[in-house]
Amino acid sequence: MLIKKSSDIKSSEITPKNALLNRRTFLAGTAVASAAVATGLAWRELAAPSIVAQANTKIDGIQKSKFSTSEAITPFKDVSSYNNYYEFSTEKEEPSKLAGNLKTRPWTVAIDGLVKKKQTFDVDAIMKMATPEERIYRHRCVEGWSIVVPWVGFSLSELIKRADPLPKAKYVEFTTLEDPKQMPGLRVPVLKWPYLEGLRMDEAMNPLALLCFGMYGEALPNQNGAPLRMVLPWKYGFKSAKAIVKISFTEQQPVNTWNLSAPSEYGFYSNVNPTVDHPRWSQKTERRLGEFRKRDTLMFNGYGDQVASMYSGMDLRKNF
Ligand code: MTE
Repeated sequence: MLIKKSSDIKSSEITPKNALLNRRTFLAGTAVASAAVATGLAWRELAAPSIVAQANTKIDGIQKSKFSTSEAITPFKDVSSYNNYYEFSTEKEEPSKLAGNLKTRPWTVAIDGLVKKKQTFDVDAIMKMATPEERIYRHRCVEGWSIVVPWVGFSLSELIKRADPLPKAKYVEFTTLEDPKQMPGLRVPVLKWPYLEGLRMDEAMNPLALLCFGMYGEALPNQNGAPLRMVLPWKYGFKSAKAIVKISFTEQQPVNTWNLSAPSEYGFYSNVNPTVDHPRWSQKTERRLGEFRKRDTLMFNGYGDQVASMYSGMDLRKNF
C-alpha cells in the first residue's frame, strides 16, 4: 500500500518469498500433515511455534455460516505471517514478529456519535453479543494478493442494533488503536494516525459485514487485528480495520486513512472491481497466497448477489 511507483514494486510483494518457502515446507511436510490428521492432531500444531504462541485461545460454540465459500482455505501460517499492519511495520513479514506483545486485554470499544446512549463495551462482552460463526471468506488486497480465511465473528449489525443509532446517523466510523509504546510503526509518519475507516450505514448493516475476533477456530493473532477487527469480503482489504477501539455514528462520510493519504488511488468505497484499475496497476487478476498461478478477480470479489444492490445507480468509476 505504500505509495510506490510500479517499478518499485518488488515481485516478492506479489508472490511473497515466505509463501513460496511455506509452500515448499508444506510439500515437504505433506507426509507429516497426513500423519497429523490420521492421529487427530490439529493441523494448527504444524504451524511455526512463534506464531502459535500468539493465538491459541480456542473459541467455543462456533457455528457454521451460510455465507462461507467452499474454496480451499489458505494455510494459517501464510495468513498470519504476511500482513499489512502499518502501526507495526510497512514490511509484510514484520507484524508477525513485532505484534506478539500487544496487550489485547483489558480492551474496550467506545460507542459514540449519533446514538441514543453513548457507552463503552468490554471486548469480552462484545464477543458474547451473538453466536460466533465461522465465515470462510475470500479476502482480496488492493495490491493484488488474496486469501481464503475461516474468520470467526458475527455480523456487525448485531452490535449496531445494541448501539441504537439515531435516524440521523448515515455512516459508521472505525477508530483503531494508536499506542506508540506498543506499536513501533507509529513513529514513522507514513500515514496519519490513528488508522481510520468507515462504511455507509447500509453497508455496515449488510449481513456480510463481519465483526471479527477470531480465525481458524481461535482468537485472532495480534498481527491479524486482535482483539477486534472488521472483515468486509466484497471490499479491498484496507477497509477491514484492525484493533478497533471506537465505533462512531456520523452524519457525514468519515475520513478513511488511505483515501486521506492518496485520494486518487484509494477511495471511500473500495469495492473489489476488476474493471476499475488502480492508477498504477491492473485489478483484473490476483494471486492467492501460496499459489503460483494468477486467477481472475471477480466483481465485488464474488459477493455481488449479496451486495451489488447497495450500489445500483452509482457510478463505480467515480465512487471507487
Ligand atoms: N488496520 C490497521 N489498523 N492498520 C493497517 O495497517 N491494513 C489494512 C487492513 N487493516 C491495516 C488495517 C490492509 S491494507 C489490509 S490488506 C488488511 O488489514 C490485511 O489484513 P490481514 O493482515 O489480516 O490479511
